[in-house]
Amino acid sequence: MTDQPMTGNLDLFEPLDQMMHPYRDQFPPESKLPAKGRPREAILEEVEALRSLEQSRWEEGFASGSVYHGDYEHIEFLNKVYAIQSQANQLHADIWPSAAKFESEIVAMTAHMLGAGQTDAPLGSEQGICGSVSSGGSESILLAMKTYRDWARDKKGISEPELVLPESAHAAFHKAGEYFNIKLNVTPLDDAFRADISAVEKAINDNTIAIIGSAVNFPYGTIDPLEEMSQLALKRGIGFHVDGCLGGFFLPWAEKLGRDVPKFDFRLPGVTSMSCDTHKYGYAAKGTSVVLYRGMALRRYQYFTTSDWPGGLYYSPTFSGSRPGGLSAACWAALVSMGEEGYLTATQKILDAAAIMQQGVEGIEGLRILGQPIGVFAFTSDELDIYQIMDQMSARRWALTGLQRPAALHVSPTLRQTGPGVAERFVEDLKESVAFVRANPNAEGGMAPIYGLAASIPDRSIVHEMLKQLMDVYYRL
Ligand SMILES: Cc1ncc(COP(=O)(O)O)c(C=O)c1O
Repeated sequence: MTDQPMTGNLDLFEPLDQMMHPYRDQFPPESKLPAKGRPREAILEEVEALRSLEQSRWEEGFASGSVYHGDYEHIEFLNKVYAIQSQANQLHADIWPSAAKFESEIVAMTAHMLGAGQTDAPLGSEQGICGSVSSGGSESILLAMKTYRDWARDKKGISEPELVLPESAHAAFHKAGEYFNIKLNVTPLDDAFRADISAVEKAINDNTIAIIGSAVNFPYGTIDPLEEMSQLALKRGIGFHVDGCLGGFFLPWAEKLGRDVPKFDFRLPGVTSMSCDTHKYGYAAKGTSVVLYRGMALRRYQYFTTSDWPGGLYYSPTFSGSRPGGLSAACWAALVSMGEEGYLTATQKILDAAAIMQQGVEGIEGLRILGQPIGVFAFTSDELDIYQIMDQMSARRWALTGLQRPAALHVSPTLRQTGPGVAERFVEDLKESVAFVRANPNAEGGMAPIYGLAASIPDRSIVHEMLKQLMDVYYRL
């Protein structure tokens, strides 16, 4: 292979290289296995030193999303459960039947929270809501899309499958399209940053296997018109996946707390699958999510089996073979230790913090919030370079996500922003950042030039190439 990078501009990646590899001097990289194993004490010291360099930023609430709970006692408790079950592997349910207990209960509790008890078919019945535990939101989405592809091939003879998804649907659906050879029909949003229902209807054709809605979507935290989409899916006899990766463990509690939350789950009869992340607002450790289906017949299209392999009769419900049983145990422990009361309390606190942050944004001249979000939100500026504002927030230790089309910043408030004064500090830092950018509109450096460059390149294949080079930077020593 002699392909040269298309952009070849390594300077562009210098700030990213510095961001990803700040430890080269302090902790010289290992480029091959040490001839003799290093003493465990020294290794623990190094890992501990890295932890302490990184912890305060997220712990003190400067990160959007990322760590959704983060209280010391909660983390210690989950770590303890993980350690107890660290050798368990779901692939060997004969040795660790506890894994089957944890996972079936995680699925049942999540399904119940998302309306399973309010459908015609009881949990555990052939038509009831069922599912699997996966490694994260992306895997849940990939599994569901593979499931629809195989279901549509079997039941409808569709050999060139297509999905209809609003622009705001998560990138994982694009990954699914690429991995599984499913054509994507991306539809525009309405003025409120929700799926434009008439565009969705128009995009459906005979090859459509499913439509996608989000509750809430990642960029703006808004909820698509799911009731109408549910009707549409029923009318056309196609799948309807609601991506609740971000909102699945948040909206049920916001609704119980009296917020105006439209129906978003299996109470809508057209919803045939959902993804819901335990490792976000479910407050489990990173590495688990739940994918749910209406009826076991659909879930079976997700399963993999092989009958003639010399290694034995083999089956696997999700993408991985061996899986970390400790993570499922810790996920189960998070759910049963929080309980409904814990989730309600946590959600109330986050709603309060989000209100301070959102009102703060609205009170700053030159900024405006996009759509009508519930918790997660995004804001933009019609006057100032929003990416420069992001850089100024980064200089004040904040880690926010830059959005594009339109250029905006995204914030997922978590329990880390509910600590004393954290949400208020966000507003103060944002005021300072906006004032700085207003006074210094031509300041250089940071991420703003990279976002600016990416936005200005009409040939998107060059941007793809830049992103690939960025991953190469990640793997540099
Ligand atoms: C709405 C939504 N869907 C899917 C995902 C993907 O989840 P993960 O990063 O766990 O793969 C995210 C992640 O933020 C999300 O917000």
